[in-house]
Amino acid sequence: MDLYCVMGNPVEHSRSPWIHARFAELTGQTLQYGRLLAPVDGFAQALAQFRSSAEGTARGCNVTVPFKFDAGASAQFLTPRAQLAQAVNCLSFREDGIHGDNTDGAGLVNDIVQNAGVALEGKDVLLLGAGGAAAGVLGPLLASGARRVVVANRTLGKAIALVQRHAAVALPHHADVEARSLGDVSGSFDVLVNATASSLAGDEVPVDARVLKPGALAMDMMYGPAAAGFLDWAARHGAAPRDGLGMLVEQAAEAFEIWRGVRPPSAQVLSELRAIVG
Ligand code: ATR
Repeated sequence: MDLYCVMGNPVEHSRSPWIHARFAELTGQTLQYGRLLAPVDGFAQALAQFRSSAEGTARGCNVTVPFKFDAGASAQFLTPRAQLAQAVNCLSFREDGIHGDNTDGAGLVNDIVQNAGVALEGKDVLLLGAGGAAAGVLGPLLASGARRVVVANRTLGKAIALVQRHAAVALPHHADVEARSLGDVSGSFDVLVNATASSLAGDEVPVDARVLKPGALAMDMMYGPAAAGFLDWAARHGAAPRDGLGMLVEQAAEAFEIWRGVRPPSAQVLSELRAIVG
C-alpha cells in the first residue's frame, strides 16, 4: 500500500486526510493518508521513521506548521517555486531522493480563478503579510497575469526583503511588485489576500477598507471560526468574502497530482467539505 501523511504540530484538526481520501476514492487510486504529529524539534527523525514504515511504502507527505522550513532542509531537490517561497509543504519520496515543492500558491491562484471565478489578468492585488504564508503565494500571484501586486506588512523591512527576492519572477510576467507598510497602502485593489496572522490572533483587519474596490474579492487564508471576523469586515465593506477552505483543497489537489499523476475533482471535494465545515 502506498502511504502518505500530513506532518505538523498540532495536526489533529487537519482536514488533509479527509480530502486525500476523497480524491483517492473519486480517482480510483489506492492509498492510505494519515496524520503524523512530530515533536517541534524532531521533524527529521519523524520523517525518517515515516519513510521506513513497515505498514506499506511511504511515497510522500504534506507538511504544515511549523515544519515547512525543516521540510525544505530535508529535501535533496527543490522546485523553483519552493526555493522562492523558502518553504515546502509537499515532499515526494522518489528513487533519486526527496523532492520538495510548495503547492500553496498554485492552490490560492486556482481557488481564486477556478472556484471563485475571478480572473487575475490585469488585476491589482494587495497581499497582506510577509511571513511564511505570504512567501508561499507571492510567486504564483506574480505569474498569474496580475498587473500589480502590493505586499503590505506591519514590519516594512520584511515586505521589502520578500519583494526583492521575487523581482526576477515579476519581470518576465510584466507584473509590478511593491512593498509597503500596512498604514501606507495607496489606491484600491480588485483582490485582497490576508496572509497575516491577524485573524488567528482575533485582531482587527490590519488595513483600511478603502483599499477595496467595489465588489473586490477579499480572501483570508484561514477558514472556520478564525476567518469569521475578516469575512464579516469584507461583507460590510461591499467586497466578496472568501475563506481559505478552497485554497486548502486546491493545494491538496496540486500535491495529489504530483504524487499520483491524476488531477482530482477538487471543486466537487470542496463543495462536500464546505457542507461539513460550514
Ligand atoms: P505565517 O507562516 O503564518 O505567515 P509568520 O511567518 O509568523 O507566520 O508571519 C506572520 C505574519 O502575520 C507576518 O507578516 C506578521 O507581521 P510582522 O512581519 O510585522 O510580524 C503578521 N501579523 C501577525 N499578527 C499581526 C497583526 N495583529 N496585525 C498585522 N499583522 C500581523
